[in-house]
Amino acid sequence: AAAEKGGYDSFMEKEINDQPQAVGDTLLGRSDADGRLTLDELRVSPEELKSVNKIMVLACGTSAYAGQVAKYAIEHWCRLPVEVELSHEFRYRDPIVDANTLIVAISQSGETMDTLMAVRYAKEQGAKVLAICNTNGSTIPREADAVLYTHAGPEIAVASTKAFLAQITAAYLLGLYLAQIRGNKFQGEIKDILADLSKVPDKIQQVLDNSGQIKELAQLMSETGSVLFLGRHVGFPVAMEGALKLKELAYIHAEGFAAGELKHGPIALIEEGQPVFVVVPSPRGRDSLHAKVVSNIQEIRARGAKTIVIAEEGDDAVKAYAEHIFYVPETPPLLAPLLTTVPLQIFACELATAKGFDVDQPRNLAKSVTVE
Ligand code: G6P
Repeated sequence: AAAEKGGYDSFMEKEINDQPQAVGDTLLGRSDADGRLTLDELRVSPEELKSVNKIMVLACGTSAYAGQVAKYAIEHWCRLPVEVELSHEFRYRDPIVDANTLIVAISQSGETMDTLMAVRYAKEQGAKVLAICNTNGSTIPREADAVLYTHAGPEIAVASTKAFLAQITAAYLLGLYLAQIRGNKFQGEIKDILADLSKVPDKIQQVLDNSGQIKELAQLMSETGSVLFLGRHVGFPVAMEGALKLKELAYIHAEGFAAGELKHGPIALIEEGQPVFVVVPSPRGRDSLHAKVVSNIQEIRARGAKTIVIAEEGDDAVKAYAEHIFYVPETPPLLAPLLTTVPLQIFACELATAKGFDVDQPRNLAKSVTVE
């Protein structure tokens, strides 16, 4: 088993460290030298994809947060409405889906019963289903009309890490492919985004190589009872995933919020010493989101929060308000989740290890939930 873990103490650690490869392999062979997406493997024709007027992403757990990231990217690149819903909620209301709806079912295992049942239901309503899946030949891709495999390799640890980054990567590819066939973007722009994506694996490696400081912090915080996570735009699902990892691995009460929602409730939770992770948007992004999140950091800090900030290299403006700051390399704002998620995974894994928990097999959880 030690050999299977590649020299790491746990599969979780190995899988976190496998992420440059998981993302790289998911990108591999899916575009040509001119920057054209070549997703011929999809079993659905460009004509069918052109007739789509709405996308609904269905998934559970970590995969659903990958879906939320996908929404920001696909709506921006393709100008197509994207809804994201938990599979088990979707099926028990009266959702509006028809032949022009593309369902994107995201599942690492391809066996999650809730997602499988949602896929079956959507097909009955006449929708097309495309699966983003990490497990070859599993049930969801077999029942789907189309499949885009993530090439993260087998994920053994129960809580998902490398499959998450691979799902986000696959969703970006799908978004760019839809933009290409629907003519929403100039080929040159698609080529530029693909070039940025191809640099991401090395940047993830840099984050991994600089993880000493976050591990130290995790060890110092092993007695913490509650941690909050704030994010905005694509940083919002990243914050949710950071909180989920901490619940799953370290059994600590953790909650993620949209930073803009702070003043509508969660700020009441802030008291002296409350640790809050803040995923800060790039200062190079549009819409002054960076300034807004920096002012959120000031607000919570003034109320005694211990602020732990994930920011882009070169972002000096946040320094003054951060008790701890972890920098990730520069990348276009929409692609940032592939980097900002990593320190949060490392934090949860390290803290759980410090508490003596089995990070590969957290209590009460299953790798793939094949019952409703
Ligand atoms: C379980 C796992 C989670 C996973 C979720 C969805 O709850 O513990 O890590 O995110 O199922 O699994 P799927 O295989 O459908 O992505």
